[in-house]
Amino acid sequence: MEKELIILGIESSCDETAIAVTKGGKLLSNAISSQIAVHQKYGGVMPEIASRLHLENIGCVLDQALKEANITLDEVDAIAFTRGPGLIGALHVGVQAAKTLALIYNKPLIPVHHLTGHIYANEFIKPLKFPLLAVVVSGGNTELVYMKSHLNFEIIGETKDDAIGESYDKVARVLGLPYPGGVAIDKLAKNGKHTYKLPTPMHDKSLNFSYSGLKTAVINLKHNLEQKGEEIIVEDMAKSFQDVAIGMVLERVKMASEKYDVKEVVLAGGVSANSYLREEIVKLFEGSNIEVNIPPIWCTTDNAAMICKVGEYLYREGIFAPLTVSVDPSWRIEDFKKF
Ligand code: KG4
Repeated sequence: MEKELIILGIESSCDETAIAVTKGGKLLSNAISSQIAVHQKYGGVMPEIASRLHLENIGCVLDQALKEANITLDEVDAIAFTRGPGLIGALHVGVQAAKTLALIYNKPLIPVHHLTGHIYANEFIKPLKFPLLAVVVSGGNTELVYMKSHLNFEIIGETKDDAIGESYDKVARVLGLPYPGGVAIDKLAKNGKHTYKLPTPMHDKSLNFSYSGLKTAVINLKHNLEQKGEEIIVEDMAKSFQDVAIGMVLERVKMASEKYDVKEVVLAGGVSANSYLREEIVKLFEGSNIEVNIPPIWCTTDNAAMICKVGEYLYREGIFAPLTVSVDPSWRIEDFKKF
């Protein structure tokens, strides 16, 4: 029987300072200190403030994670940490903490790609089924990732400009809605009608995405209406924008599932909390042989449990980093073994 590994995971790529402990893949603790309330005042994540708050909070988060798991650092088999992608200063705090613990307690270091974490978070619910299509939709990334087997990542489509979550957040800001914009737009869209005509970018056969034109179209429409002395109906704009933004994801996912051999479609990342996306993706594959795996909301937000989950797979593959390892804010998922 394989030894039940104890993995300590550290995540600090954006605005959540998170540390978790797993034993044999099961969650023993999942401590998270969210900075959202602070960044809300600025209408978005302020990178410098994020780094400082990670520094202030990481000690307490570590203490909480160890206490809840009822283990000591001596008992841990390896330290897994998010190496990228993310905000450079924020990533550095987690990486430095991981390296310090690894040095003091003489533990192996496992660098984890943040988006692999979002995909593998689904394994806390049920095992992944290959070949699969991961729909990675977050604040910083929009990618279709094809996986033939464990730790086998191929990007088959990606955004050519803004990420979907970024466009949600920018449009929300223009409409005077609070950060994180996705949550606010999702809620308002439920009471809105699709009355505004917005462009659907990239009418091509590729599996790529584009969100910057859509965002600009919302901004221009709002200004034009204001110049005419008219007010925008926020609920209707939220619905119109969401239909196009999520519509692009659904269209690309459908195309990818026709082009590739897919047994399962897995949602991953912050935007996978979107209620419209969750409903529509189920409808898209109803009656087909393709299973849809929708993560519970706790898996869609940043956490370190998902870093432990990938960390365990990497440990078994012997993928460890030296103490000279550093962050990579734009690390590609296909390069998850290169550091
Ligand atoms: O995964 P995440 O923390 O971002 C990165 O790690 O890059 O996701 C945050 C993003 C934000 O852009 C936020 O507006 C969006 O996820 N989001 C949503 C919803 N909840 C969060 N977008 C659409 N609908 C939602 N319900």
